[in-house]
Amino acid sequence: MNAPARSPSLEFIVGRRSIRVYRPGEIDEPTVQALLEAAMAAPSAVARDPWRFVVIRSRATLTAMTQILPNGQMLATAALGIVVCGELEAAHDRQLSYLLQDCAASVENLLLAAHGLGLGACWLGIHPREARVQKIASLLGIPAGVIPVAAIALGWPGETKEPRTRFNGARVHRERWGGP
Ligand SMILES: Cc1cc2nc3c(=O)[nH]c(=O)nc-3n(C[C@H](O)[C@H](O)[C@H](O)COP(=O)(O)O)c2cc1C
Repeated sequence: MNAPARSPSLEFIVGRRSIRVYRPGEIDEPTVQALLEAAMAAPSAVARDPWRFVVIRSRATLTAMTQILPNGQMLATAALGIVVCGELEAAHDRQLSYLLQDCAASVENLLLAAHGLGLGACWLGIHPREARVQKIASLLGIPAGVIPVAAIALGWPGETKEPRTRFNGARVHRERWGGP
């Protein structure tokens, strides 16, 4: 199956890429607010919105996070980091799986919003690596029952990446698994 022709109005979705190099420059508060509003516009099971956000501008804290997240070295030069957490009590049926799905949806919304605003961003995994969860929670004072799921590094892009489709028709089944 060939990749479908892309609608210009959906171009921003394939244009979103992980940006790991940033140039100096602040991200102002109205922009942070817009990113958080986008994150909280994501779908969530029974609209329980279990997501919680920690916005980090402190250079010392961002640097400390690089010690915990081995694949998050770009935080050292990011304008800010946002840690997306989930509160288990708030999640639908108090189910970890709903919490993770809801938080993942909010992360993707935030990444798309960042791209739309001309920012560069990268998703950094925290959960389910237990050592990372514990250390990030301790660093940021996150209370028990609130799980740091992912960090997002944000800054003005210092690298450009081409839009990229990863469409693969072999991963699609019609009507039944293995169907035509
Ligand atoms: C759960 C998850 C964890 C990730 N963790 C990291 C990470 O720790 N460091 C990193 O540089 N990228 C991380 N990424 C980004 C992926 O590497 C990236 O999305 C993937 O290579 C596809 O590239 P693209 O985002 O440019 O389309 C993570 C993505 C997801 C969904």
